[in-house]
Amino acid sequence: MATITVRQNGSYRVDGDDVKLVDWNGNEYQIPKRPFALCRCGASQNKPFCDKSHTQIGFQAAEAAVPGSGDHPAR
Ligand code: FES
Repeated sequence: MATITVRQNGSYRVDGDDVKLVDWNGNEYQIPKRPFALCRCGASQNKPFCDKSHTQIGFQAAEAAVPGSGDHPAR
C-alpha cells in the first residue's frame, strides 16, 4: 500500500514500493530513490519531483485533513 503525505508548507511525500509515477502519456518516470517527494508549490526545477525550492519561495499551504486537529508535522 502506498501513502501520500501532504507536508505542511511543502511537498507530497510518497511512500511505498508498489507505486509508479507516469506522465500524461502513461510513460513511467524513473524514480531516483524512495520514498520520493512531488512538488506542490510549482517552483521545482525538477518537476514533478520536489527539489526543496518551496523553502526558498516561502510556500504556505497547511490544510490539515481534519481542520483544527492541531499541528503535528509528519516526517
Ligand atoms: S514542493 Fe518542494 S519544490 Fe515545490
